Amino acid sequence: MTKENRIEKLLQNFNNANLQPLWTLESDIMPHVPKPKSIPYLWKWDEIYQLAEEAGELITLDRGGDRRAIALANPGLGGMPFATETLWMAVQWLNGKEVAPAHRHTPQAIRFIVDGAGSYSTVEGDRVYLEKGDLVLNPPLLWHDHGSDSDERAIWIDGLDIPLTRYLNANFFEHNKNDVQEVNTIRNFSLLKYGSGTMKPAWEREKPVYPLMSTFKWSRTEQALLDLEKSGASSPFDDIALEYINPLTGNPVMKTFSCWIQMIRPGVHTQAHQEVCSTVYFVFEGSGYSVIDGVRFDWKKGDLFVIPNWKLHEHVNTSSGKRALLFSINDRPTMEALDKYREQAYTENSGHQEVKSIF
Ligand SMILES: [Fe+2]
Ligand SMILES: [Fe+2]
Repeated sequence: MTKENRIEKLLQNFNNANLQPLWTLESDIMPHVPKPKSIPYLWKWDEIYQLAEEAGELITLDRGGDRRAIALANPGLGGMPFATETLWMAVQWLNGKEVAPAHRHTPQAIRFIVDGAGSYSTVEGDRVYLEKGDLVLNPPLLWHDHGSDSDERAIWIDGLDIPLTRYLNANFFEHNKNDVQEVNTIRNFSLLKYGSGTMKPAWEREKPVYPLMSTFKWSRTEQALLDLEKSGASSPFDDIALEYINPLTGNPVMKTFSCWIQMIRPGVHTQAHQEVCSTVYFVFEGSGYSVIDGVRFDWKKGDLFVIPNWKLHEHVNTSSGKRALLFSINDRPTMEALDKYREQAYTENSGHQEVKSIF
């Protein structure tokens, strides 16, 4: 038997014994740089809205389904309802006077209100009324239900770490025996107590992992953006960008992912860079485009788009007079906790990628 024949036989025997030799695998399982399966992609708001509206007419909220949520399914992920390998993002539609029943789960969750005067979220018995631009937190295993006192529909986006939790086989989910939690505090309690974000009740000493207020109100968020703009400080890669934090610890609001709000000022074209984290963007206001891995993605209000790990990206506000506001979630806290985060600026061509195609 020649050496080649013996090697072939050896590989066959490995296979029969459910073993795999590293020397045939290396570039697959330990590539030189991250090779995500998720791809840069953009979902148009007009299309999402039309489908969500129809779902609002046709689909009722029953136990089991619980939420009329429509997930972004990245075409690179083989039909899985995930925006990236770690992040879930969905658009949720709640009809007027409707209730999304109480449940709790281990995935960490946030919602960013697109539109929804008169709607509320009750988290662990604390009910807060919601307006456009509010960020609501659902830390793991806290009971939450949503409802609306208004006749108008509410619409928001949901961000969760479902894919990561699933990969880790760590998912638990429970229905509450009641559809609607009993509310045992005054309206907007956690917001009134902790909502300033810069001060706390003086007699409390705890430093909880998750923020104690369930909601970050848009009016304060917008003021923070305007103040940062006024300060003259900005990021070359993200312009006027703020990360939502737990005011008692300074850490991101969730352990596995972070929430950002950023303003790209009129005419600003940021520098390109790449990062070991994936990001899902929601265009809250304005219009412009992002170049991701050499492809130009034009976006406007309501659109959602994904930047997978290690893909070069830069953002442009094409308007000469109007700001663009982007809300996003990213899994950077997971990468940092596991010592895997890296970032690299693109230095060629004055920091701007060559646009090879348009999405
Ligand atoms: Fe939930
Ligand atoms: Fe970035």
